Amino acid sequence: MNDRALLEALEPTVERLFDRHLATTKEWFPHHLVPYGRGRDLDLDDVWQESHADLGGAQIDEAARSSLIVNLLTEDNLPYYFRSIERMFGADGAWGAWAKRWTAEEGRHSMVIYGYLMVTRAVDPVALERARMAQVSGGITPEPSSAADGFVYVALQELATRIAHRNTGALLGDPAGFAVMKRVAADENLHYLFYRDLATAAIELDPSTMVKAIERQVVGFEMPGAGIPGFARHASAIAKAGVYDLVIHHDQILVPVVVRHWGIEGLEGLDAEADQARDRLMARLAKSERVARRVSERREALAAAV
Ligand SMILES: [Fe+2]
Ligand SMILES: [Fe+2]
Repeated sequence: MNDRALLEALEPTVERLFDRHLATTKEWFPHHLVPYGRGRDLDLDDVWQESHADLGGAQIDEAARSSLIVNLLTEDNLPYYFRSIERMFGADGAWGAWAKRWTAEEGRHSMVIYGYLMVTRAVDPVALERARMAQVSGGITPEPSSAADGFVYVALQELATRIAHRNTGALLGDPAGFAVMKRVAADENLHYLFYRDLATAAIELDPSTMVKAIERQVVGFEMPGAGIPGFARHASAIAKAGVYDLVIHHDQILVPVVVRHWGIEGLEGLDAEADQARDRLMARLAKSERVARRVSERREALAAAV
């Protein structure tokens, strides 16, 4: 099926999933979660120092700072996600309504994380704003090549984002920060469920197109973040701290979604090309399993040696 036919056939599913989303999601307000009591006025010549941070008594380290910066800047890059989603799925009907609602929800995520960072002074606000300007001025986001690729990418990415937000919150050691990140992660979970089930419906309609898209997206998957100044350094700190890494990607994303939920191995009626794509995908998953186990073992050995 081409994109247009697939999107048209899925319109009733989008309506159903959108209604389910609206019935499940709960209204919430960033200002309820930001601990304003910790805020203070700053002079223009105030230069931020690590010691200015107030994490409710907890210590914040570089990895937690990196996670907060990357998670927030990813949310800040929203205009370009909206552009990609509208381009892939269209601006009309249920598709357009979903894209706009999704955008409004994602905007809340950046508001609450930004508010938390400003009142707690957890990161350098000048560096943060410069990084936001650099990233949003660049406008780089992943651009899946078809609607099918788009469904797969956003399903995997929303789940990865949920996990990264949640783990970032846990890393903070500050109950207020944990509550902020947990709340955002709960939204990402609903986004994930929307796209996961949309992809499931697409697999039923056209398994061959979807299997090829899944193979491409699993092989090429990258977390959003390209364009963030110092992204490689942040990503390595995030992986070291166990917020998001290859082990999590394999065990908590690829296996539960691609293998279990979408049941790629047992799909029937694939054309020859899709059959080959599935073989490559299964080989890729086996490789990612080996890498994940190796990384885990190395980490356990290091922990035991300490
Ligand atoms: Fe978000
Ligand atoms: Fe999301």
